Amino acid sequence: MSANDDRIFLKRFSLVIVALAIFAIVMILVAFQFHKTLGQHDNPARVEAISARIQPVAGVYAGETGRAAAMAAAETASAGAAPQVAFDGSLDGAMIYDRVCAACHDSGAAGAPMLVAADWTDRLPKGEDTLVDHAINGIGVMPAKGGRSDLSDEQVRASVEYMLAQVQ
Ligand code: HEC
Repeated sequence: MSANDDRIFLKRFSLVIVALAIFAIVMILVAFQFHKTLGQHDNPARVEAISARIQPVAGVYAGETGRAAAMAAAETASAGAAPQVAFDGSLDGAMIYDRVCAACHDSGAAGAPMLVAADWTDRLPKGEDTLVDHAINGIGVMPAKGGRSDLSDEQVRASVEYMLAQVQ
């Protein structure tokens, strides 16, 4: 390789670097343009969420219409505060088992008892209430409610009942 080759290489290489730098600057300008034209607060859901967040804490209501408005507001507030229950509160034990518990109990992962009678001979004598209690609060490596804290106690009971029905 001669010194001339090196010079040619360096020249082309610097050209590539310069082209990349120009490309980067163009991209930055385009991004700025998008940022300006799209705006950030045009999303109606976002605007609504913000105005709900900055609403005054208390309202002043007077007379009969005022009472009705206050009742309606209180109702909406308590509905909003109601805890979210998994699967719309369904008590379908088989469905809950499939969606939540099967992840471990179908495969026996981490020593989870599978839906075969042999895995339950030592556990059944504890009684259903104790088994349900363990499923709700967790036992050993099993997390409380199988890791779905949004399940209600009744939903866990329904899925335990489903499991026991399979092994008895
Ligand atoms: C992350 C894995 C996992 C998930 C998900 C899971 N379990 Fe378990 N479960 C286990 C393991 C492991 C054990 C055995 C624990 C032990 O005996 O130490 C167990 C044990 C149990 C037992 C027997 C408890 C006892 O006292 O012997 C019941 C009942 C049970 N699970 C119900 C459920 C139900 C109902 C669900 C779904 C809502 C569920 N499990 C989801 C891992 C899991």
